[in-house]
Amino acid sequence: MKSLLVVLLAAGSLSLSAGIIGTKHDLSTNALAGQGHTNTTQVCVFCHTPHNAAATQLAPLWNRKFAGTTPTFTLYSSATLTSTPTQPTGASLACFTCHDGTTSVGNLINMPSDTATFTYTAGGNVSNLGVLSGAPALGTDLSNDHPVSMTYPTKTGLVVPTVSGTTSNVGGLPLFTNKVECASCHDVHSNAIATPFLRASMTNSALCTTCHIK
Ligand code: HEC
Ligand code: HEC
Ligand code: HEC
Ligand code: HEC
Repeated sequence: MKSLLVVLLAAGSLSLSAGIIGTKHDLSTNALAGQGHTNTTQVCVFCHTPHNAAATQLAPLWNRKFAGTTPTFTLYSSATLTSTPTQPTGASLACFTCHDGTTSVGNLINMPSDTATFTYTAGGNVSNLGVLSGAPALGTDLSNDHPVSMTYPTKTGLVVPTVSGTTSNVGGLPLFTNKVECASCHDVHSNAIATPFLRASMTNSALCTTCHIK
């Protein structure tokens, strides 16, 4: 009986920590203090919509747009790089519809059915307009960030990706049309493996050595 209770409790806490609710990507009224507003309990709507999604879907059923035109980014470069990073695409460009430090988290294509406007409370790194600042606002200068939006090269020192149907991954880390994107290292939906939203642990730099043989 006691062991059954322990199992049930363990399963309960696992399902709680596995999801997006209560994380910094939960921008609903469930959110941590100061990360949002009081207008909707919907969570997914800040990124996805079931109908009438963006014409260019940066991620599946994408419900977001930039405040202005799509920004132009300064890219990472180095003498030893084999691949060629391009302007951010797909599951990297999607992040910048909030992480550009200009666009409000509430700049949606389709608003949730229960409200027409958001009234934000400033807190964390989010302003009273819903705009990110500080470390999470990566801006448009990516020259000092790990490269993204480059085709994963064949190179000594890099683990060879596993191809499965139309998708590919490196040790379980997803590539997107064979490219490394922000979402290769991060899972926006969960801190279950490691904070901040990482797909592998940083203990002994396990995330890094999943791709780099170092
Ligand atoms: C902060 C933005 C954000 C929020 C909020 C969000 N998602 Fe996502 N979602 C993304 C991005 C970006 C991708 C594409 C990258 C990837 O696959 O990880 C994605 C991919 C997906 C996918 C396809 C890939 C997969 O993992 O199966 C599904 C399904 C999905 N999201 C469902 C949801 C649901 C359901 C919710 C609400 C409970 C939600 N998402 C909330 C950003 C978000
Ligand atoms: C809907 C807006 C939105 C989108 C889209 C979005 N984020 Fe975020 N993200 C946030 C907010 C809000 C925070 C919390 C800011 C703060 O510190 O107060 C955050 C924080 C983070 C953090 C830091 C978490 C921590 O614990 O400190 C990471 C990492 C992150 N986001 C990665 C991503 C990645 C990668 C993508 C794209 C795949 C993405 N985000 C897309 C809104 C967004
Ligand atoms: C190669 C893996 C990798 C890629 C690609 C990557 N990140 Fe990260 N990111 C990390 C790791 C690891 C951390 C945590 C660093 C630490 O705390 O030691 C992090 C931290 C962050 C943070 C928290 C920053 C802070 O100081 O609070 C944000 C926000 C973030 N990443 C967003 C992004 C966005 C947006 C992209 C795409 C442009 C991206 N990441 C691409 C690995 C990656
Ligand atoms: C999903 C796979 C993947 C992960 C995870 C990953 N990297 Fe990378 N990394 C790459 C690829 C691909 C390149 C581009 C290599 C090239 O083109 O020469 C790269 C480039 C780099 C470079 C620049 C190399 C140069 O010659 O300029 C450094 C440094 C680096 N990664 C360090 C890290 C660190 C540190 C981590 C963990 C925080 C990490 N990487 C996680 C795939 C990954």
